[in-house]
Amino acid sequence: MQHYRTHLHDEAGTAALGAALAHALAPGLIIYLHGDLGAGKTALTRALLHAAGYVGHVKSPTYTLVEPYTVTLAGGPTGVMHFDLYRMASPDEFLDAGFREDFNNSNICIVEWPERAAGVLPPPDIALFLSVAGAGRDVELQALSAKGSQCLDRLRFAPNL
Ligand SMILES: Nc1ncnc2c1ncn2[C@@H]1O[C@H](COP(=O)(O)OP(=O)(O)OP(=O)(O)O)[C@@H](O)[C@H]1O
Ligand SMILES: [Mg+2]
Repeated sequence: MQHYRTHLHDEAGTAALGAALAHALAPGLIIYLHGDLGAGKTALTRALLHAAGYVGHVKSPTYTLVEPYTVTLAGGPTGVMHFDLYRMASPDEFLDAGFREDFNNSNICIVEWPERAAGVLPPPDIALFLSVAGAGRDVELQALSAKGSQCLDRLRFAPNL
């Protein structure tokens, strides 16, 4: 599957999509999360991490730019790096912080506000777009690589419309 689009009625719908994504993940995936402030990018990531077995608090990486997690995937530990680049002053900051090294075959990288690091950020396997629609959210997922397409093929999500 290359493309998937649906409506998320409420926050529980966003959480259900995050959980479904958690079960479709593979090491090395890069996921860009697009959407305005308050669209639900962090809410989705929080649900994903909890469904992947992370038990602690998932806070927004607003000021730290990145929060690292370890989850168990297919029996082994996998790093999940949750970025929020909204407050990055320039793409150089991304390079200076050494963030490029976090994008490797063993980590999963989830990036809010990828636009802020245009030109230095590795390309995504999946681009996800969230937008406010009535009281809920519209969401669109695009696979942009074979790996991203395989992930969407594994996605089992039936929202309550
Ligand atoms: N499907 C939904 N319908 C209605 N409200 C939702 C839905 N999903 C999430 N929300 C609400 O939208 C808000 C999303 O906040 P969140 O911090 O996740 O946004 P964000 O996209 O990460 O914003 P930022 O760019 O500031 O980091 C939360 O208040 C959450 O309860
Ligand atoms: Mg956020």
